[in-house]
Amino acid sequence: MAKRPSRRTGTGTGRGRGKGPSGKGRGKGRGTGRSSAPGRKRAKGGSSKGYGKGRAKASGGKGRGGGAPTRGRGKGFGKKGASARGRAEVSAPELTVRSRFHFAEVVPGFERVAEAEVREACGAEGIERWRGRVVWDPAGPARDLLELRCTEDVFAGVCLLTGVGRSRFSLGSLYRAVVDSQLEWAVSAYRECHPGAKGHRIRFRVIALMAGRRNFVRSDLTAAVERALVDRSSGRWVPVPEDGMELWVDLWRDRCLVGLRLSTERMRQREGRSVELPAALRPSAAACLVRMSGVAPGQVFLDPCCGSGTILSERLALGDGAKLIGTDIDPDAVVAARLNVGRRAALIVRADASRLPLPDGRVDAACANLPFGQKVQVSVNLPTMYAGVARELSRVLKRGARAALLVGDPADLAPGLERRSWRLIGSPTNVNILGRRASAVLLERK
Ligand SMILES: C[S@@+](CC[C@H](N)C(=O)[O-])C[C@H]1O[C@@H](n2cnc3c(N)ncnc32)[C@H](O)[C@@H]1O
Repeated sequence: MAKRPSRRTGTGTGRGRGKGPSGKGRGKGRGTGRSSAPGRKRAKGGSSKGYGKGRAKASGGKGRGGGAPTRGRGKGFGKKGASARGRAEVSAPELTVRSRFHFAEVVPGFERVAEAEVREACGAEGIERWRGRVVWDPAGPARDLLELRCTEDVFAGVCLLTGVGRSRFSLGSLYRAVVDSQLEWAVSAYRECHPGAKGHRIRFRVIALMAGRRNFVRSDLTAAVERALVDRSSGRWVPVPEDGMELWVDLWRDRCLVGLRLSTERMRQREGRSVELPAALRPSAAACLVRMSGVAPGQVFLDPCCGSGTILSERLALGDGAKLIGTDIDPDAVVAARLNVGRRAALIVRADASRLPLPDGRVDAACANLPFGQKVQVSVNLPTMYAGVARELSRVLKRGARAALLVGDPADLAPGLERRSWRLIGSPTNVNILGRRASAVLLERK
């Protein structure tokens, strides 16, 4: 479990006394150092003292009020070791706090595709997105989120702070925002998704992600949120090392996102594959490629390098009667794909993607995760292999049909694309799949 921050006393310059998790700090807060939101009991043992001076006004400045983000000031965290020695004071940054929202983690680069799914499936509005995250106003039952396919995980938002800086003041602002948040709303969303989860005491653990240089470390983030939850619940929320509800804290650039995880491993892994191959694609990335290629009921859909069949499985899951065709040069991949997708669900055969056993102009949409030349080697160089696949796809696709291709480097694909056959839709999207950079390229058959 994360280490608790120390809570040595600092000297306040305002009416409140500042204490920082780092030790001595100069608090600027106007709060008393003991207050929390009106009507809320103080935590046993006075543990709120460590974080709670001043307030980042959340949600319209009404503590737990919902609605549009407003400006607020997070205060009460001194610069580490600043006060007694009379160093220059560091003021807290202006923050915007959003509450009552849903958000999703997506494979970085596929945010726009995931956003389109969220809009369509959940009627979502008020959307914000940044690297790997899509945030929106809730517009339907939380359990509907579990049906999304372009997302890695979905969350009920506790708070989203914008304007978070490097200083330790951010920890105080985060603490206040969580204390003042509409946590009950997030918990009811969680219970909607997990009907078995009942009980007065709530076991939870905090999972913190942090990017960029700060004057604090990841465990400080964990501790600030953990403490806020314990304090605001008078001990009803109990931190545990594993299991329990997961609260994710994600600090990226100036944004700090806190949310209760609604999804389980099932969203990332689906039902699991019967056979795993080394270069298998993440299911949510496969779902994004499928969406990019333009879905229509009953269409003929092709993956010419199907591997273990992840893309075909995602297309099948849409359940609209599409006719699925998969090919792969590796006989083991053909066996794996048949097992994973189902023998009757798709026609899966061994074939070279540059010599497909298909007639001209029959395919309505194609997707492929082409080899990157790392986990899956090819006998020719990548540009030659990609050129062969592009030529063959231009033969079997109907005019106007789209192909969404995931490649290691789009520069390997460009030389083999004949201008008279293909139109590039948008520009290649940089994606990051488990730390590996790749590009999703969308082409239309002229
Ligand atoms: C990156 S993997 C695809 C992984 C797949 N999307 C999955 O989730 O399992 C690339 C696949 O291309 C296949 N491949 C390589 N060269 C090929 C070729 N010339 N024709 C057809 N398939 C080929 C490999 O055997 C491998 O299964």
